[in-house]
Amino acid sequence: MKRIRIKEVLQTSGTNQEILVKGWVRTFRNNQFIALNDGSCNNNLQIVVDFNSTPETTLKRITTGACISVVGNLIASQGKGQTVELVCKTLEILGDSDAEKFPLQPKKHSLEFLREIAHLRFRTNTFGAVFRVRNALAFAVHKFFQEKDFVYLHTPIISSSDAEGAGELFRVTNFDIANPPKTENGEVDFKQDFFGKPTNLTVSGQLEGELAAMAFSDIYTFGPTFRAENSNTTRHLAEFWMIEPEMAFFDLNDNMDLAEDLLKYVITYAFTKCHEDIEFLSQRLLEEEKQKPQIERSELSLIEKLRFCLDNEFERVTYTEAIEILKDSNHNKKKKFSYLIDKWGVDLQSEHERYLVEKHFKKPVILTDYPKEIKAFYMRQNDDGKTVGAMDILFPGIGEIVGGSQREERLEKLETRMKEMNIPTEELWWYLDTRRFGACPHSGFGLGFERLVLFVTGMTNIRDVIPFPRTPKNCEF
Ligand code: 4AD
Ligand code: MG
Repeated sequence: MKRIRIKEVLQTSGTNQEILVKGWVRTFRNNQFIALNDGSCNNNLQIVVDFNSTPETTLKRITTGACISVVGNLIASQGKGQTVELVCKTLEILGDSDAEKFPLQPKKHSLEFLREIAHLRFRTNTFGAVFRVRNALAFAVHKFFQEKDFVYLHTPIISSSDAEGAGELFRVTNFDIANPPKTENGEVDFKQDFFGKPTNLTVSGQLEGELAAMAFSDIYTFGPTFRAENSNTTRHLAEFWMIEPEMAFFDLNDNMDLAEDLLKYVITYAFTKCHEDIEFLSQRLLEEEKQKPQIERSELSLIEKLRFCLDNEFERVTYTEAIEILKDSNHNKKKKFSYLIDKWGVDLQSEHERYLVEKHFKKPVILTDYPKEIKAFYMRQNDDGKTVGAMDILFPGIGEIVGGSQREERLEKLETRMKEMNIPTEELWWYLDTRRFGACPHSGFGLGFERLVLFVTGMTNIRDVIPFPRTPKNCEF
């Protein structure tokens, strides 16, 4: 007999059919009712066991966390809370779970505790919902780009360059680090290292993406990226997944249009595909917010927030306009920001980004044309000599979700800027070659996948939307 997934079982009507299901026991009530879950959805299938005809030893082994296989008759349920239930004919224990030791009790656990048992947290309703939504979003990203004929490009994980020039690199080596080979001058001799030079985990696939865009016109990457920034926040990971499209012949406006379309498309897809999970997460957030003081609660529920983001055009504002708004805000005047905005040129903190989105515009915002001093070397220089063609998309509750720009395609300007910023032009000879051989105006952006999942699930800590988070001082599992 072929196993049927519980999601499918729950969608059929109970018409006395014999079926086989397998899954993990959530609860076992009165030696009679098993709530069985197989991860296909959050709802459990109720299994009715006849305790008179079931051996005592078997009954004892039906514990929370145990894995079982059941053949039974699916009937319309007489009880409340479910439309169908399975009357057990034969039950086999596939894997025991010692009820005394199993850390997941059928009660509410804190998210902090569940992070410590991340290997088991998939078996809770919250994380079941979160990771099904994450899956749907990942699929939707590919669907969006494939429908537009973009080429999916696998950029390298191990790299010898720093694409962002921020120096937040994880080194890659096969040296015995306590005792690396040295040159005559006493420096580490990287010529003897595995790749014959210093290497690191990639911070971004953009530079390689640009090379491919100069042939395929439109490409995207979707892969892991690594940053050794020591930010212990609810929005930073040391290992995160990024989507980086790169488009030849796109200016900054085309770039913003594509990013806005992508976000709306994937949110709509997840919303439709995982409606029950998102309903559940919306309810979860409501409960969580009840713990907070009234003024800290969000005005909108998760579902309202998603709808709101889909129904509104993102507000497009220049950095210069944003600075004026922030400088004149009551928040700034009453010194409610930790970092006060006093002059043009300062980098925005997430408190400022969130003020613009949540308090001022009350919708997603795209900030453009940042000062060149606070942005990466590859961004296209504007005619004013002060700003670059950058664009960051800011989301409610998240802050920056997308960072992108039009790229500097003029060789001379790019080289000058790289020298000013101490970016090694010799090492990036291959990048500069694209500006020598058939350069064209082009643009791209990076969407932080976990920040997107945070937004769609309404979770508040980025550690709860990636299966096994890597953060400073934490690399368990
Ligand atoms: O703004 P970032 O640093 O831009 C780039 O890496 C460019 N190369 C992208 C491009 O133009 N192709 O990063 C892009 C996005 C951010 O907006 C944020 O959503 C996410 O990546 N991000 C992080 N997410 C989680 N943890 C971190 N430490 C992150 N750093 C960036
Ligand atoms: Mg950025």
